[in-house]
Amino acid sequence: MYRIFFVGLNWKMNGDKKSLGDLITTLNKANLHEETDVVCAAPAVYLDFVRSNLRARIGVAAQNCYKVAKGAFTGEISPAMIKDCDVEWVILGHSERRHVFGESDELIGQKVAHALESDLGVIACIGEKLEEREAGTTEEVVYAQTQAIADNVKDWRNVVLAYEPVWAIGTGKTASPEQVQEVHEKLREWIRANVSEAVGDNIRIIYGGSVTGANCKELAFRTRRGRLPGGRSLPQARVC
Ligand code: G3P
Repeated sequence: MYRIFFVGLNWKMNGDKKSLGDLITTLNKANLHEETDVVCAAPAVYLDFVRSNLRARIGVAAQNCYKVAKGAFTGEISPAMIKDCDVEWVILGHSERRHVFGESDELIGQKVAHALESDLGVIACIGEKLEEREAGTTEEVVYAQTQAIADNVKDWRNVVLAYEPVWAIGTGKTASPEQVQEVHEKLREWIRANVSEAVGDNIRIIYGGSVTGANCKELAFRTRRGRLPGGRSLPQARVC
């Protein structure tokens, strides 16, 4: 199964116009593989700035949004507003939203559905906490998080699933390629069984958590299962 490689950059609550401008300059000059999607998630207040200055080849994502188009929801932004800034993607369900701001599986499922209906691509994050991994409940947790999305979403074509174990985020404790691959494979099987075979085959599943310039190749390229059209090899399988 061929799936376009996807690279996401989550800038979280970091940067200012100067430093983001420097990043944009670097990214605008970068030589990107033609069959790789690259998407940068910027703080909401800089979405317009980033989208206006970053070359169109690179996607831009918001880091959150609410489940309705407009209304009295102070501090929130809607998918319609994100679209109005010509931004194409949104991250939803990030572990910092779940665990710092208390967002439930149910709310995240509703937000994913509304963002998709509003024609945004969604990077939907799931992942277990350290104690859950140690208790052997990783699968149970990521399946429940994915089920809450499945309860609300029918068309998964614009969803990228990001497996981001909480214990690996911002800790320097990167999951091993084997740990990542194990969860990815189980998730894909679960989706095949509980959503549909087509969604399970086609959905892109990525990894996040203490990825660095030094370890990204091993995480992404360790085994080679994919083939580009024309027979060229695409090292896409470990984190696919
Ligand atoms: O969304 C990706 C992210 O949470 C990973 O963060 O700081 O561990 O690379 P970090």
